[in-house]
Amino acid sequence: MPAATREAVAAAVRGLSKRFGSTQALDSVTLSFAAGEVHGLVGENGAGKSTLGKMIGGLYHPDSGEIEIFGSPVRRWDTKRAQDAGVVVIAQELCLVPALSVAQNVFLGRERSTFGVLHPGLVQRYAELEQVCGFGLPADAPVESLSIADQQKVEIMRALARDARIIVMDEPTSSLTADEAARLHEIMRWLRSRGTTVIYVTHFLEDVLENCDRVTVMRDGRVIRTSETATETKSGLVEAMLGEPADVLLPERPPPPSPEADPVVEMREVWSGTAVRGVSLAVRPGEIVGLAGLVGSGRTEIARALFGCDRVDSGEIRFCGRPVGARSPRASISRGMAMIPEDRRGQGLVLLRPTFENVTLPHLRGFSRAGVLARRAERAAVKELIDRLGVRPAQVDGDVSVYSGGNQQKVLFAKWLLGRPEFLILDEPTRGVDVGAKAKIYQLIVDIAASGTAVLLISSELEEVVGLSHRVHLVRQGALIGEVPADTSVDEILQRLFGVGEESRGES
Ligand SMILES: Nc1ncnc2c1ncn2[C@@H]1O[C@H](COP(=O)(O)OP(=O)(O)OP(=O)(O)O)[C@@H](O)[C@H]1O
Ligand SMILES: [Mg+2]
Repeated sequence: MPAATREAVAAAVRGLSKRFGSTQALDSVTLSFAAGEVHGLVGENGAGKSTLGKMIGGLYHPDSGEIEIFGSPVRRWDTKRAQDAGVVVIAQELCLVPALSVAQNVFLGRERSTFGVLHPGLVQRYAELEQVCGFGLPADAPVESLSIADQQKVEIMRALARDARIIVMDEPTSSLTADEAARLHEIMRWLRSRGTTVIYVTHFLEDVLENCDRVTVMRDGRVIRTSETATETKSGLVEAMLGEPADVLLPERPPPPSPEADPVVEMREVWSGTAVRGVSLAVRPGEIVGLAGLVGSGRTEIARALFGCDRVDSGEIRFCGRPVGARSPRASISRGMAMIPEDRRGQGLVLLRPTFENVTLPHLRGFSRAGVLARRAERAAVKELIDRLGVRPAQVDGDVSVYSGGNQQKVLFAKWLLGRPEFLILDEPTRGVDVGAKAKIYQLIVDIAASGTAVLLISSELEEVVGLSHRVHLVRQGALIGEVPADTSVDEILQRLFGVGEESRGES
């Protein structure tokens, strides 16, 4: 058989439809993926990307239509058969066994013996995989001790260990650093050179244009078009996704608070564990303060120390002018703080409860006083928020566990906004949300600051931090290394974060 060529079809779907209750998740989708291509799949939150990926991977069954893998129609498709045929899905929701080690997770389901000690063959195999990936993960570290970004790497290694010929990667880079994402793109190219097909679902359109051979745009469960990326532009893709021309413009920020205003929140020389080293900062009412730093720089840990998730070893945290006593997330919420955490599935949502309860959960006391009437007011408030954020489906009683990734993020957002907190911490607020929702979230951040809330904004998207914040602290290795004003260029910030030209500055 000749080596796989771009013309050979690895996977094809024809007339694929899938309905969940009242949602038509896929509507007669016909599409083919060539052997040895990296094929981008883009579309708004809820467009059906993950559903399509899961169907190819045997996780969902179509209502109608067919799937062909390497020219053979599949029957009674399930994950086991899909894996045997070389199809692996790296899902948006990570799927690892927390108590097992990295290597055990990588070889999970491949080798029965992995539940004990890894045998020498696997140790060797792991070393080879590690050489390809260069992730630097220790084989025997328990997965639960890893950050989300590292857990994602474990999933990627697992797919490689399974010798997949078709790999669906559903938003694999959403929690990776720029370096790590570049590495993953390299791996994709390497996979392509071996004839592996990569179906790459992502909201990063630049990444699609740079790394994919072709791209398919989906909207409302339908394919809008498939084209060679060489013929596409970012704005063209956005327009196809939204069905209208659109720009993600950063909204006007509210006027900065007067410098004399008393801070809502203050950290004085705070040390916490090894990740927060002598941090002092203050946020005033109506002010948006950004934290810019590379992933792993300690941004999230600063937020966690502030919110009472982690112990403070020394230094002081003050809220509304007074030192805070007992510290825990619960105590912080009752003081009027709120935090939208980075790991929305692990920390943010109660997936077994409907939308409405997820949104109102932290506020039950506020609403519960007057019984039925209050409950009605509460539902109305939730409905207004989910409409404003464009949560789909826009149902107060929606089943959050089956929402698309981006829509879960919006529900989480609604949950904290409902409480009108005095101080709001946002850690990666737009991760995984589409361009349309991004604009809405930006507007909400600005609105909430304009209403007097003090906001601490953490984001890996530097444009977002400098475009929304009144001032930005640069974070490196757990310490604040400087402050820059609004609209400082992203280039300058990156240079300082990477310490470019540091020595000369230090000596002068
Ligand atoms: N198991 C399910 N039960 C009910 N509805 C579902 C289920 N899975 C998906 N849906 C719905 O189908 C639609 C498509 O969802 P899907 O997860 O495929 O979107 P997506 O394009 O991956 O979005 P995102 O960018 O937010 O991840 C959404 O409206 C979603 O709520
Ligand atoms: Mg998805």
